[in-house]
Amino acid sequence: MNDQARLLREQVIQSRERKPSTNKKEAKAIAVMSGKGGVGKSNFSLNFSLTLQKKGYKVLLFDMDIGMANIDILLGNTQRYSIIHLFEAGLSMNDIIQNGPEGLAYIAGGSGLKDIFHFDVRKRNHFLSQLQELSFQYDYILFDMGAGITSESLQMILSCNEIILVTLCEPTAMTDAYSALKFIHRHNQDIPFQLIINRAMNTKHANDTADRLQSVTQQFLKRDLFHLGSLPDDKYVSKAVMEQTPFVIKYPTCQASKGLEVITTRYLNESNSSDTKNTYTFMNKLRGLFR
Ligand SMILES: Nc1ncnc2c1ncn2[C@@H]1O[C@H](COP(=O)(O)OP(=O)(O)O)[C@@H](O)[C@H]1O
Ligand SMILES: [Mg+2]
Repeated sequence: MNDQARLLREQVIQSRERKPSTNKKEAKAIAVMSGKGGVGKSNFSLNFSLTLQKKGYKVLLFDMDIGMANIDILLGNTQRYSIIHLFEAGLSMNDIIQNGPEGLAYIAGGSGLKDIFHFDVRKRNHFLSQLQELSFQYDYILFDMGAGITSESLQMILSCNEIILVTLCEPTAMTDAYSALKFIHRHNQDIPFQLIINRAMNTKHANDTADRLQSVTQQFLKRDLFHLGSLPDDKYVSKAVMEQTPFVIKYPTCQASKGLEVITTRYLNESNSSDTKNTYTFMNKLRGLFR
């Protein structure tokens, strides 16, 4: 096949795989969280968002880590518009959204984030109406949460349609991950839990870790914890961090990128088959928090 024919064929295949967001459905909101810090949430959130984008979904990645906001650092972006400009400079959400690779939209985090939940009525309404508009522009809104749970982040997590919990195989990370699930469960018994095992030494180790977490969650919380998949410990992840370029872009064939492709496909299959279960939309839940 000559180059031109191959290119055309690839484009046709790509366009078939793409599912442009023509629907006016509200975005699905996903909270990416962990018990312990430094387990790979931001790297997962960013590269997962990019993989979803590559498949034709529109994603907004929202950096909600108050203490260690770093999505823009992972992207090598120094331009600093953050959520706080929404209020202080009177900008709109669309003004503070920045453009990442693959057409990814993201909002940088900042130290002002926790104030969102302590604003006066006028500011809260501004925030909510801005978010409402955005929720129809995207298929997915991903919140990269900080480690652990604060009273502010709990509210945001509880408004999301689902939770992706990231953990390592280490016992300390697993215990903290379970504590985080238990804490969420105390406040909400319906929000679906999904699990990512990061930096696994091999598949067996990852599966054993997932099995253990699933069985305690089942036994003590009577809840399912869906194992979305695992990412290996891959030196190309830290290399990409150093180079401030997401690993799925810089090293698309590395083990972590391949793992993410499998995870994203599984996520989409699961997500599309469970769409009807979500009776409360993200915005409905979020508004409820402010009443
Ligand atoms: N799958 C992986 N393989 C190797 N190193 C990883 C992997 N995931 C994360 N890391 C390393 O862990 C560090 C922390 O990851 P990060 O995504 O910032 O964690 P968090 O957001 O949970 O604090 C990264 O800078 C990277 O060096
Ligand atoms: Mg982080």
